[in-house]
Amino acid sequence: MVHQFANISISEKDKKMTLKKNESDRAFGPFSLSLEQIRPHLLVNISEPEMVKLIIEMSAKFTKKRDQISDYVLEHRHVSAYTAFYLTTNIPKLHFLLSKLPGDVLDDFKNRPFIDMGSGPGTFSLAWKMLMKTPGHVEMIGVDHSQIMLDQATKIMNGFFPKDKFQTVRKFEEQKSNSILFFGHSINEMGRQKAQDHIMTIDPEYVMWIEPGTSEIFPELIKLRDVMLDHYDVLYPCPGNAACPNEWCHQVLRITHDPSIERLSQLVSLDRKILPMTAHVYRRKSKTPVVISAATVIRYIQETKFSFEYEVCHLVEGQNKNSIIEIQKKQLTKDEIKHFKNSNVGDRLSFEVEKMVGEKLRVKLL
Ligand SMILES: C[S@@+](CC[C@H](N)C(=O)[O-])C[C@H]1O[C@@H](n2cnc3c(N)ncnc32)[C@H](O)[C@@H]1O
Repeated sequence: MVHQFANISISEKDKKMTLKKNESDRAFGPFSLSLEQIRPHLLVNISEPEMVKLIIEMSAKFTKKRDQISDYVLEHRHVSAYTAFYLTTNIPKLHFLLSKLPGDVLDDFKNRPFIDMGSGPGTFSLAWKMLMKTPGHVEMIGVDHSQIMLDQATKIMNGFFPKDKFQTVRKFEEQKSNSILFFGHSINEMGRQKAQDHIMTIDPEYVMWIEPGTSEIFPELIKLRDVMLDHYDVLYPCPGNAACPNEWCHQVLRITHDPSIERLSQLVSLDRKILPMTAHVYRRKSKTPVVISAATVIRYIQETKFSFEYEVCHLVEGQNKNSIIEIQKKQLTKDEIKHFKNSNVGDRLSFEVEKMVGEKLRVKLL
């Protein structure tokens, strides 16, 4: 069975070998937007020099503490600049995350209401529509306490999907237990407790987040993970629900954007080709337990003449455990070697251990 979203297909075999099959993560696809495509949908039309100035101002705020970053949502020009740069460059993160999930989960996503909590300009609502190709009647709700952000989200969603439903609200405090609750770079702003309150109130079937890949937010997200596990199973990135063995685990996506966006990132001196992120996916516990046979790459170690070495998190006797693995090149085709050279931290792979070589596991890919 093949599961199709945007230009990615995940077959049963791919589920085991996503590390080898992730070329599409870097390829241009319908999720790679150009400045020209997004410009007509911005709240205000701003010139390139002004856009550059506003993005530089904003990015300085994003590196500060959470309570100092919130005023960029209050002004039309800032929101438009945010949209041009961050919306376009954040969309591939969802593409990456979806490509790591099992096909039956992707199928189950299709008809569920999608709640984009802290939607900003609709970054992940747009990404969801583009990548999942959900039917027009499926409920999509953007929630943000900034009305300007919601106006921008509406303009974007109506511009790209004029016939489809998209609702915006400044607060969402009702139960919607069949939904997918998504947080995109918003737990970082609202804080863990508020995010937890939203999860408890909405009581969704799935919770997903894509947050910054920083060591500061990681301990907060791990505390939230602990709370989640009372009622949810983790589908990504952890192999199982047991304790996290890591002080800091995140994903690093290497991506090429449309040339117009590459130019903008050069002008603002911000590298958006390497995108660190902390992405998690949870599903409400059910009678059928989740079994994830794949390990997750948590660190690239080295490529030698004969092998690739990674640190992975994998299940050992029911516990999430970190190990160093060695994949010998002689088991790979030329194309597979090329894929491994471009692999991302956060990719998944299935293997069996052939033997221990010192502290390392020499593995055979399945
Ligand atoms: C960094 S932006 C992210 C926007 C978008 N999700 C993305 O990833 O590009 C964070 C958004 O969260 C919103 N936000 C922060 N705290 C919030 C809260 N308590 N309730 C709703 N929205 C909130 C902000 O207004 C802002 O638009």
